[in-house]
Amino acid sequence: MDLNIVSLKTKRQLCKLEGISKSATIATVKELFEKKNPRYYQSRQSFRLNPKAKSLKDSDIVATMNLDVDNTLYFKDLGPQIAWATVFLLEYAGPLVLYLVFYFRFPFIYGDEFTFKPSSEWVVRVAALCHSFHYVKRLFETKFIHRFSHGTMPIRNLFKNSSYYWTFGALISYFINHPKYTVASYGESQIMLGLGIFVFCELGNFSIHYYFRNLRPAGTTRRQIPKASTNPFTWLFSFVSCPNYTYEVGIWIGFAIMTQTAVALLFAICGCLQMTQWALGKHRNYRREFSDYPRSRKAIVPFLL
Ligand SMILES: NC(=O)c1ccc[n+]([C@@H]2O[C@H](COP(=O)([O-])OP(=O)(O)OC[C@H]3O[C@@H](n4cnc5c(N)ncnc54)[C@H](OP(=O)(O)O)[C@@H]3O)[C@@H](O)[C@H]2O)c1
Repeated sequence: MDLNIVSLKTKRQLCKLEGISKSATIATVKELFEKKNPRYYQSRQSFRLNPKAKSLKDSDIVATMNLDVDNTLYFKDLGPQIAWATVFLLEYAGPLVLYLVFYFRFPFIYGDEFTFKPSSEWVVRVAALCHSFHYVKRLFETKFIHRFSHGTMPIRNLFKNSSYYWTFGALISYFINHPKYTVASYGESQIMLGLGIFVFCELGNFSIHYYFRNLRPAGTTRRQIPKASTNPFTWLFSFVSCPNYTYEVGIWIGFAIMTQTAVALLFAICGCLQMTQWALGKHRNYRREFSDYPRSRKAIVPFLL
């Protein structure tokens, strides 16, 4: 079989791939296309059946597709790619380091008299510990826990994601470590409540990530319906599709309560809006992908959303 490869952008024919075997997959098409166009390495390529269709999967078999009479596949250049793990590592290393720059009060931030003299408030020390712990955990999970299905993402995401995390990390730290910072209005009980929520949700978030790791056999991109397991933190799967996001929102709400800073609350709200949008998308995909997906589950907020 011969395949016509047409540019999704210009609708012009880019090349013809000849002698494609019946068992060929999209991965084979990508390999052959790269041989003819070395500039477009495989992770940069996306093929579709028509300009409005979704990207075909590497495992899709060409002979079983509903190709048009000309055997056309539409090619989209996804742009230069970077490994997911690299993006995550850079994203999370930023806030980790920047937070500590403000915590230790490096020169030229709050004035000479405060340089290298961290605040004496215990909640400020606890906040630095919590913030650092969170990002060390994220780095650890990126390196040793997550089993990603996509190796790469467009390089522009690196700038978008990093500026979000780096800016918030610096701003949150700037205000908490400011010499004029005032502790929570309701004192120790408010701090302990916030800390309790933070720790509980960190445990929950890690439990879900660990559960996802075991749900996907090593070296595969298999997706399955997640279900409540023997770990009580995973019972949230009975109510929502993305409990890791629910716990992540809880982490930042806890942190905002503990430190009583507007910018930490703003970070929790922005994260919540972003994760709600992703959770709704993932929830829709689960329902589309699995006909037996539990109908009563919501996306991120039990019983509501
Ligand atoms: N503070 C914020 O603003 C913010 C925003 C976003 C994320 N986060 C944090 O970052 C964490 C990771 O985010 P994410 O968007 O990458 O989470 P995610 O999509 O839930 O994925 C986490 C890992 O689990 C895998 N996975 C998910 N569902 C699976 C299934 N049904 N079967 C098998 N494997 C599955 C994913 O593989 P795939 O590669 O196939 O997806 C990925 O490796 C979140 O849980 C959250 O803690 C924070």
